Amino acid sequence: EKGEYRHFMQKEIFEQPAAIQRTLQDRIDSPEAVSAAFGDRAEAIFDRVRTVQIVACGTSYHAGMVARYWLEALAGIPCQVEVASEFRYRQHVVPEGTLFVTISQSGETADTLAALRDTRSDNYVGRLAICNVDGSSLVRESELTFLTKAGPEIGVASTKAFTTQLAGLMMLVLALGRRHGLGDERIETILGELRQLPNLIEQAAALDKPIEALSRAFVEKNHTLFLGRGVQFPVALEGALKLKEISYIHAEAYPAGELKHGPLALVDKEMPVVAVAPNDELLEKLKSNLQEVRARGGELYLFADKHARVSDGEGIHVLHLPAVPESIAPIVYTVPLQLLSYHVAVLRGTDVDQPRNLAKSVTVE
Ligand code: M6R
Repeated sequence: EKGEYRHFMQKEIFEQPAAIQRTLQDRIDSPEAVSAAFGDRAEAIFDRVRTVQIVACGTSYHAGMVARYWLEALAGIPCQVEVASEFRYRQHVVPEGTLFVTISQSGETADTLAALRDTRSDNYVGRLAICNVDGSSLVRESELTFLTKAGPEIGVASTKAFTTQLAGLMMLVLALGRRHGLGDERIETILGELRQLPNLIEQAAALDKPIEALSRAFVEKNHTLFLGRGVQFPVALEGALKLKEISYIHAEAYPAGELKHGPLALVDKEMPVVAVAPNDELLEKLKSNLQEVRARGGELYLFADKHARVSDGEGIHVLHLPAVPESIAPIVYTVPLQLLSYHVAVLRGTDVDQPRNLAKSVTVE
């Protein structure tokens, strides 16, 4: 069923415009309508939310990290995010009015499920599962569900599940934000931006050929550094996870501001550095971080907004993305990083859809 595609991962990357379209369809017609996508009890539970605890693993955890930036910046709601395998084994304080959110493609990840089953405190006002599989354990055991409608994801490397999770998480931010002073006008604007998402993802995916060309520079390398700032930091983490998972190249992600606190020592011409830099307020800061990399002979690969006023130069390779509204930038910038790891893995001849040592769904601890 791969059709014209060589791998499921490739097919699933290109399916993202349709997957997001399905996920948002009939759910974002108005600010009032958004809560309904989370279930019948959403209104009553959302009214009581004062803080959010997100728990997930792997790629789904990265989606949670993006959501934290959004929740605190747009909705003014405190948010904690933790990997399930840590959360479940430590003592933690549950503030009053906490919404417990799990994020999972499969809905069967053992650690995430165990964390959910452990939410006994009365301070939890409800449990929400953001999940791609209807009827999965997480969905059955949560009062609220948001179903991402990505369709079956076969490739072990999660792609369309992640971007649809992010679309759902932005809806959650809007639904909660509405109860915390996020005005309808602002919500309408973001809903309009969400509607542009399928189209913008398609434009990002159209960079496939130039990204394939660029991927050659990574094939012989053993290490790569991914940089992002702010909400793009989790995007960098996700880019690094994709690369290590399917190409077996060691990849690490850092918030760019941390560079000089250690990782800069690693940078030389053998260590390509990938940076995600949309045209937001942090760009100027990121640019100076990038100069630090260049000064050490590091080869730079930059995914930047077409208005970002950065261009190719000695050791700097820029790939321009369409202008993207800030609210949805992390979703769009994920796509070129998926394509990069895909092409690097193909060139290295790894088993892209079934990378060694990994399972699609981690149902054991
Ligand atoms: O099914 P889940 O979303 O709960 O799975 C969580 C992780 O196992 C998963 O995202 C994993 O990190 C992916 N293979 C990453 O591409």
